[in-house]
Amino acid sequence: MSIAAGGTVQRIDQFFAMHSGRADYWRDLTNLAQEWALGRKQRKDVEAAREDLSVIEAFHAYHGPRLFGTLGEYIARDDASGAAALTRRISNSLLTRAYRHRPGEWELHDQQDAEEVTDVLPPSLGERDLRRPYFEVLFVTSQPASRWPALAAELRRLRRPEDGFVYEAVIVGSLEDAFCAAVVNPSLNAAVLVEGFPYQSRYDAPALRSILKPFGVPENTKDLTLLLATALKRVRPELDIYMVSDRDVEALAGDHAADCVRRIFYGVEEFMEQHLAILEGVQARYETPFFDNLKKYAMRPIGTFHALPIARGKSIFRSDWIRDMGEFYGINLFLAESSATTGGLDSLLEPTGNIKRAQEMAARAFGADHVFFVTNGTSTSNKMAVQALTAPGDIVIVDRNCHKSHHYGFVLSGAQPFYVEAFPMTEYSMYGAVPLATIKRALLSLRAEGRLDKVRMLDLTNCTFDGHMYNVRRVMEECLAIKPDLIFLWDEAWSGFARFSPFFRPRTAMGAAADIEAWLRQPSSLASYERQREELGSSPSDEALMAARLIPDPRKVRLRVYQTNSTHKSMSAIRQGSMLLVKDVDFHSVEAQFHEAVFTHASTSPNQQLIASLDVARRQMELEGYSLVMNAIEIALKIRSAINTHTLISKYFRVLGTDAMVPEQYRQSGFQDYLSPGIGWSDVVNATRDDEFFLDPTRMTLVCGTAGFDGTQFKGLLASQYNIQINKTSRNSVLLQSNINNTRSDVAHLVRVLVEICQGIEKQLTDGGDQERAAFEARVKSLMTDVPDLPNFSRFHEVFRKTSGRATPEGDMRSAFFGAYDPAICEYVPLLGSECDRRLREGPEMVSANFVIPYPPGFPIMVPGQVITQETIDFMRKLDVKEIHGYERAKGLKLLRADVMTG
Ligand SMILES: Cc1ncc(COP(=O)(O)O)c(C=O)c1O
Repeated sequence: MSIAAGGTVQRIDQFFAMHSGRADYWRDLTNLAQEWALGRKQRKDVEAAREDLSVIEAFHAYHGPRLFGTLGEYIARDDASGAAALTRRISNSLLTRAYRHRPGEWELHDQQDAEEVTDVLPPSLGERDLRRPYFEVLFVTSQPASRWPALAAELRRLRRPEDGFVYEAVIVGSLEDAFCAAVVNPSLNAAVLVEGFPYQSRYDAPALRSILKPFGVPENTKDLTLLLATALKRVRPELDIYMVSDRDVEALAGDHAADCVRRIFYGVEEFMEQHLAILEGVQARYETPFFDNLKKYAMRPIGTFHALPIARGKSIFRSDWIRDMGEFYGINLFLAESSATTGGLDSLLEPTGNIKRAQEMAARAFGADHVFFVTNGTSTSNKMAVQALTAPGDIVIVDRNCHKSHHYGFVLSGAQPFYVEAFPMTEYSMYGAVPLATIKRALLSLRAEGRLDKVRMLDLTNCTFDGHMYNVRRVMEECLAIKPDLIFLWDEAWSGFARFSPFFRPRTAMGAAADIEAWLRQPSSLASYERQREELGSSPSDEALMAARLIPDPRKVRLRVYQTNSTHKSMSAIRQGSMLLVKDVDFHSVEAQFHEAVFTHASTSPNQQLIASLDVARRQMELEGYSLVMNAIEIALKIRSAINTHTLISKYFRVLGTDAMVPEQYRQSGFQDYLSPGIGWSDVVNATRDDEFFLDPTRMTLVCGTAGFDGTQFKGLLASQYNIQINKTSRNSVLLQSNINNTRSDVAHLVRVLVEICQGIEKQLTDGGDQERAAFEARVKSLMTDVPDLPNFSRFHEVFRKTSGRATPEGDMRSAFFGAYDPAICEYVPLLGSECDRRLREGPEMVSANFVIPYPPGFPIMVPGQVITQETIDFMRKLDVKEIHGYERAKGLKLLRADVMTG
């Protein structure tokens, strides 16, 4: 293992495994020590392994310098059995996490105790856990390392029985060490920076530099404490930062640069104050205003004389016939059910109490100015955003492959979609994301036609179903250079959790908006803009604008960014829990419209449990989101590697790497894939920063056509025979997704299942002989090469392209949609019959009357008013999903009669 003193953290999987992998390293060290005790290894082997761990271990509170030092002593005095016992104990404590709750785990015992193996296991799922939550606090100090154990002990002495949480200190002595600790130790929830520490680490560890360098922490500056505070906030915005200074703290507190510091203390004398502030800071994130009140409400003896008989559970538990429902869900669900909006609860439609506070806390956590909780999924959040931000006649530049909720939103608001196409991945029957050049071209063409003022919004999906993440900042900056007041709606249904990873955050709407906001404040930004303006000249051609990486005019930019996310898809919210995030300098101008949108779409009986789960999901992400997202990435990298390097599995299956998912022209950094040989950790960081598209590693396209399965068939097989649930399929692939709840056991299970399936294929091929093999090869060929072309959006029928007689790319979809309400102007043409082919050949043109949306993935291949072309028909005929919304097989395609429309 090469993560420590002598080695470097090169590969990205090593990086993400650094925290959870500690238990593995310790298990290896334990085995080594055991082997030494049995005479099969030498002292120097154990010594080297311990040394190898030393740097990274210093960034974690447990085992602490004492136990680690003692291990060193055992090794130095050739006490192999002592070393084996102690490594076993530490290793076990890390694995069971017993050190978080048993003070004895930190103590130095005599040899006999050291051999005692911890038998405490974490409570099982659903079991009551009365232990106080544990976290770690980073202390950065200039005190000599010899003083650190005493400092840790002093901090421990401050604990009181009434404290809500317990913490241990991780003490480091330099900016470099502090930054690395924050990156590699996800248990940290606060940092105390005591002024006076140096920049450089006491370790000469390339590992450390290799972590630090790609993050671009600036070299030595005058004010190291504020520099560190800012750097920490950049990687871990949720961390509470405290400063201890003996300077002019009053002046410091007024300094803008200290905005990211939660509290400044003068000198070290306020130890207890620091302790209380740390606990209070964590409490401020732990607090869940709505959920806390709901729990209290549930415990009150309340008589209900209004609707919702299920509330309090009496109709359930007293029934002979439905009692099992109560037993299954438990009494609390019914005690917490209520249709009240008073008495400690609040109204989602017009929140003034704890829902309002819960939303404000979510805004803080997700880096937004405002958040709306939505209880009918992101399907509703998107419709709300579209309705609130656009009006009839507005043009929205939108990815045609975006989720159907956007398209329905346009029908509701009357906005006219200007569809732009994502790059196709025909081989796998899926789409990528929309190239920036396509978006710029659309804006420039509208500008050339003098219609830029009609353009209201750019609406994109980030990340896409299959994991393409935009270079969000670049897209917004270049668009703002063309239209400085353009509104952005980023549908981040799948990637709400991305906020909590420093690798993903810049590629999220809120992360990029914060970066742009900071850029707008820098005086140098105007100079860069002016420089580019000079270079481009006073009236640059469209081609010049297309070729340049456009810089917006900071004086004109109105930064208006919206994000929707299915909190239930990537965080611990109950199904349908969603959030709509707002970061809009002109929000005041649309706020009333948002209230209308809430009134339009929110149920007047929103589900309390759903709202509570949004509140709780926020709490979790603020306190352990960093670790959970790291875990999801680590699991994904393990799956990718396990499948693609397994001799048997990789004969039939493979997970597509970035090189297969993102065409080369969109990988400006030259990045190939996470696990490509020679690709280093810093290459990944560069790719996240520079590439036009970046693949979210947690979304894994598993090609199954090469094993003779189409996507739907393989999904069915995994579900019915192996209890593995997946969602999206394509003709020859399925999408695997790692999540914050996955464990390494899940990886092992998946690998076992794939091995079993491969063994089945091999047996079938061997038993079936040449005939079977030929049939298998033909099936693979059909799935992998006989793939339909992906149909681009054709065009809206002339009738729906009304602008002063000119053909426009955008269309009045709303009129087409409502036109179809009149049966007299509708007709049906069977998809498979000859009439369909005849109409394609001879006309009149077929015009779709409604949305036709295969599910999954849930984007329309036909929209109301769209002219149906051969490509669309070919694609539909080859579709392999069962659920196609808007298409009734028995009747055929529902069309608008062109003769009536044009007549
Ligand atoms: C990109 C995208 N946006 C929005 C949604 C709708 O989200 P929800 O299921 O939370 O309504 C989905 C659902 O799959 C989606 O893929």
